[in-house]
Amino acid sequence: MKWLQRKEKVSPLDGLTIPAHIGIIMDGNGRWARKRGLPRKAGHSAGAKTFMDICKYCNRIGVQYLTVYAFSTENWKRPQKEVDALMDLFKRYLGDASQYKDENVKTRIIGDRTPLDGEINALIDNLEAESKDCTGLTLNIAVNYGGRDEIVHAARALVRQGLSPEQIDEQSLERCLYTAGQPDPDIILRPSGEKRLSNFMIWQAAYSEFIFMDVLWPDFTPAHIDEAIREYNHRNRRFGGV
Ligand code: IPE
Ligand code: IPE
Ligand code: MG
Repeated sequence: MKWLQRKEKVSPLDGLTIPAHIGIIMDGNGRWARKRGLPRKAGHSAGAKTFMDICKYCNRIGVQYLTVYAFSTENWKRPQKEVDALMDLFKRYLGDASQYKDENVKTRIIGDRTPLDGEINALIDNLEAESKDCTGLTLNIAVNYGGRDEIVHAARALVRQGLSPEQIDEQSLERCLYTAGQPDPDIILRPSGEKRLSNFMIWQAAYSEFIFMDVLWPDFTPAHIDEAIREYNHRNRRFGGV
């Protein structure tokens, strides 16, 4: 009767639907640092480590798309010292293409790259080229990203393509978004206790399930992803139907 005693390892996600696309507003780094008497940049470094762990975990459990909000079009308002620290972190995390390639993660940067410096732009080009054939998770890192800015960018592209007003519809506009060809996020997750979008994926979020959590981003763990997926599985998505 040995088999009766054998404990099968059950994954916390067994039997649950894994969302195809998760969006995360990585918020709370500053508060995490303040609680510890550390400079804000220490919170950003800790948050960057969390980002890498969560990215690997999402890839492992079969999430197809992960979009993380790293820097908004509004974040330039922060003190120059903090902006510089964030740009240095981007250099570190965008510069090591092998980190993503070894995990089979296809990485793309979404947002307006024009104000980013030449070094960051070159690292992004390299990273996107190096990981383009990866077949695991597609990771969108939103840097200098704003949802409103993305829609303006798309509107300009439609004009440049010479479309007539009648040719402009949801599909043609979507083809000009940074996320063209990708499914909309099923879940938008925001840690830190704030309950707002802060200009994240405002077009794509039309039917996303919002999950707000009280944890600060550097304290966020794979167990929080599991919790979000369990919550998602309890939601009844109707998309306007019955
Ligand atoms: C999110 O953490 C990271 C970025 C916006 C770049 P914050 O820096 O916003 O952390 P809080 O909200 O001040 O705690
Ligand atoms: C949103 O967080 C941007 C990122 C997480 C990158 P913020 O901290 O900038 O948002 P607000 O200012 O609280 O709305
Ligand atoms: Mg914040």
